[in-house]
Amino acid sequence: MATRRPTAAAKARPKAAAKKTASPTRAAKAAKKPLVTLAVDIGGTGVKTMLLDESGSPVSERLRDETPKPAEPVPIIDIIVAQAAKHGSFDRVSVGFPGVVHDGVVATAPNLDNSWAGVDLAATLSERLGKPARVLNDADVQGFGAIAGKGVELVVTLGTGLGSALFVDGRLVPNLELAHHAFRDGKTYEECVGAKALSKLGKKRWNKQVRKAIEQLDHAINYHALFIGGGNAKKLEGDLPARTSVVSNACGLLGGIALWRN
Ligand code: BGC
Repeated sequence: MATRRPTAAAKARPKAAAKKTASPTRAAKAAKKPLVTLAVDIGGTGVKTMLLDESGSPVSERLRDETPKPAEPVPIIDIIVAQAAKHGSFDRVSVGFPGVVHDGVVATAPNLDNSWAGVDLAATLSERLGKPARVLNDADVQGFGAIAGKGVELVVTLGTGLGSALFVDGRLVPNLELAHHAFRDGKTYEECVGAKALSKLGKKRWNKQVRKAIEQLDHAINYHALFIGGGNAKKLEGDLPARTSVVSNACGLLGGIALWRN
């Protein structure tokens, strides 16, 4: 069978021009639309959400509701769904959860409620919101919003609990749980520097404890940089130890964009 040779005119036609004349399909149009991420930060005192554009910049206001007591799955998920409805349209969901999370399934929630264990939060939110959802530990998410992506970087969050996250050249070592390990005087890190310790000890003594904890973590992990976030980071006083910086608590939402990076 004879094959048809392209005409000289067809050969000369630049490919891009040929593309231009073809009418774009709906799918192609949709693919060009920038994706919006609903970032969710579940905390011991507040549940927060915000929309992010593809670069991770906020494109909505931040909504916040008090964390219900008891902090069980159903009322917290209801709050997220209600806030999502107020935000309007989005394409995917990123969640920072205050406990250990494996493949979207909650393993622990020390400052919320034991009934979280075994909840498939990613699947539940995906079903309730009709969009794909990804869930990581809250300090891991906060870390993505804070790190520079070079060397060994440790992130510690000072809030209701003590969050910790470790990154090597920007790659996360997921679910680093320093909070419940022994620190001093038979107490854990979280017992010594968490929110309860702050209100019990007062700012000055709490600051001393935080510094001692940092010193110990530096000796153990030998990080290149330490980032301190969380709602109580603003209560730190005086000069910070070497290689340490305080980051905005907004990183807990902004870091959510990283959950959709390859
Ligand atoms: C939990 C961590 C969490 C941290 C901050 C700790 O009690 O064990 O998983 O990151 O609190 O919310």
